[in-house]
Amino acid sequence: EVQVPLVQELAKQPLTSIPERYVRPELELHLVSEAEASSSSSPPPQAPVIDMAKLLSPDFHDSELHKLDYACKYWGFFQLINHGVRPSLVENVKKGVEEFFNLPVEEKTKFKKKAREVEGYGQLFVVSEEQKLDWADMLHLTTLPPEARKPHLFPNLPLPFRDNLNEYCTELWKLAMELVMLMGEALNIEGREMRELFEQGSQKVRMNYYPACPQPEKVIGLNPHSDASALTILLQVNDMQGLQIKKDDAWVPINPLPHAFVVNVGDTFEIVSNGIYKSIEHRATVNSKKERMSMTTFLNARSHGVIGPSPNLVTSERAPQFKTIPMSDFWKTFYSRQLRGKSNLDYLR
Ligand code: SIN
Ligand code: FE2
Repeated sequence: EVQVPLVQELAKQPLTSIPERYVRPELELHLVSEAEASSSSSPPPQAPVIDMAKLLSPDFHDSELHKLDYACKYWGFFQLINHGVRPSLVENVKKGVEEFFNLPVEEKTKFKKKAREVEGYGQLFVVSEEQKLDWADMLHLTTLPPEARKPHLFPNLPLPFRDNLNEYCTELWKLAMELVMLMGEALNIEGREMRELFEQGSQKVRMNYYPACPQPEKVIGLNPHSDASALTILLQVNDMQGLQIKKDDAWVPINPLPHAFVVNVGDTFEIVSNGIYKSIEHRATVNSKKERMSMTTFLNARSHGVIGPSPNLVTSERAPQFKTIPMSDFWKTFYSRQLRGKSNLDYLR
């Protein structure tokens, strides 16, 4: 197990220079600035906005489903408004996340990620001593089904955060299920197939803390990656921005709308959709002014059985774009690697 410091503690010290392990290789910085330069002539386009209330209303369903389909095909990201989750609940969860990261370090280390585990507090996705590190600490835990919660994590969260998170997770489970069923409808995947994939699925949350950095251009909060999940719902916790998505080889910032969720298609859904819906690379940048916090909620397919393109989406014109493999192999591979690019999908092509 590779031991790495908590960045939140590191960033509290007066830093005259950024430790070498956090300074990203020239190559990546070069790639990024080139992409930025090429798109600087016009303001960056904005990810689509999808209205959940319209998706659920008989009058607007068809036109909004068409927009959802477009968003998943060409952006892989959208902002979801009118999602129906109570604003006061969302506010309480945001407060809970802030309070968690502001706990004394001795309190937080009770949640510390242990060797060979993927859940807990600290730095995730660190697989070697040599690898460059992200400018972020995270708390990653299984939230649903309740019996899959690790006894030392969720049940130890402070109250009232634990109760609020519990309610939020239940709401987001319903919302994510509605969304994947709608995406399945737009793609003509059978409802039965979608239910088999997701009704016995699981939910994980990852709370992200990106400390302010005196030289933000030298580090990255979260390495460019695509999500392994089927669907990810991101909550911007405080008012600092930093999420950027790769669109036509440029990094496009996402500016979360008030009360909206940022939703993205994950690798699992790209596979099921036989590549029609896109799991887009994204990254988190940091800034010198203030820490940034976010929380992602992942809907994952059932962990048994296999994952592969839906039979309805493999035709004589469209060969299978991905291999079909056991779900257990998919996760084993994901957690044995760094979080990097679309490597989690590329080995399945
Ligand atoms: C993530 O990709 O999981 C987090 C992105 C963010 O913090 O905005
Ligand atoms: Fe992500």
